[in-house]
Amino acid sequence: MAKITLSIIKADIGSIGGHIKPSQRLLETVENYVKEKGKGLIIDYYVGFTGDDISILTTHKKGAGNTKIHKLCFDAFLAGTKVAKEQGLYGAGQDLLVTAFSGNVKGMGPQVAELEIEERTAEPFLMFMADKTDPGAFNLPLYLAFTDPMHNAGLILAPRVKEGFKFVIMDVSYTKADKIITLAAPEEIYNIAALLRDPERFIVESIWSRATGEQVVSASTTRLHNIAGKYVGKDDPVMLVRTQKDFPATGEILSPYTLTPVVAGFMRGSHNSPLMPVKKNTSISFFDGPAIVSCLAFCVKEGKLTESADTFDHPYWDYVREQAAQETQEIRRQGFFGAAMLPYSELEYGGIVETLKALDKRFIIKKK
Ligand code: F6R
Ligand code: MG
Ligand code: MG
Repeated sequence: MAKITLSIIKADIGSIGGHIKPSQRLLETVENYVKEKGKGLIIDYYVGFTGDDISILTTHKKGAGNTKIHKLCFDAFLAGTKVAKEQGLYGAGQDLLVTAFSGNVKGMGPQVAELEIEERTAEPFLMFMADKTDPGAFNLPLYLAFTDPMHNAGLILAPRVKEGFKFVIMDVSYTKADKIITLAAPEEIYNIAALLRDPERFIVESIWSRATGEQVVSASTTRLHNIAGKYVGKDDPVMLVRTQKDFPATGEILSPYTLTPVVAGFMRGSHNSPLMPVKKNTSISFFDGPAIVSCLAFCVKEGKLTESADTFDHPYWDYVREQAAQETQEIRRQGFFGAAMLPYSELEYGGIVETLKALDKRFIIKKK
């Protein structure tokens, strides 16, 4: 059977009332474009949003990094941008860093995650979308779900899961090309942890089953400010994860989100925020945050998608959300101070540079 590819391509091309959520007309424009122009090219699609970001999930037989698929999504975002401008939406076309498409959306602004798979008899997978944070936000949940029996009971109970997983980790500080390392769990979990503890620099790009050789995870790795050289919005990553059988169960992948790890992002992309698991199509509010993550579950058969199941739409996650809100309050109590705001190198706005330059001239060196 021909392989099926799942492609998620995501961009912020404008939103209502600041960086809150896309307009209905904008969403419809993107969706209709994919539906019409994707005929004969894609098998199925889903269009949704998390915060101010629109995600296009397509299924097709063209493989990862395919020009036609990437162009379809890029052009859908361009069509959306036109509407965003007409409506006067805020940040219209913000993530489209180039106007002329060439080859592949990687490096052009949108986030991309793709999985080329041999469909199993049943093929359940998860689509994660985060807003007001950056790609390293998935580091800890992935580490725990794929290496720690405290979250993944399969590592003890299921022999094929127990064989472990290979992590492909990217050093995104290197911008000339993709710089990656492959590390095997469980043997190298301390090395994996040593890298993943720094989510601004080292990001999980993919995870592979050692039992079957199959790819289980594909996560987006683009850091916009590394491309544009200046602040153009936070990266708001996306991720695809196959689940069950020889891979972690859906609940094992979801379990670490209980921890609501503190991630970079939030207001002006310059603060630390607990990562709050939210229902699908959730908007942004308080202090342009907190950072949020949604997760939709699907099954796919010969490229045809089921409707989505909204994994964080459950009473259990209401409790976690409440905890995340409390943690958010705690960190917000100290405003701009210390750990509440990101270190200088990660601040997404340049204004402070001028302030510090001006103040530097006013420092005096005291005589002993
Ligand atoms: C963070 C984000 C927002 C904006 C903030 C200011 O990723 O999108 O927090 O940084 O609303 O936005 P501007 O500078 O566009 O007025
Ligand atoms: Mg966003
Ligand atoms: Mg935005």
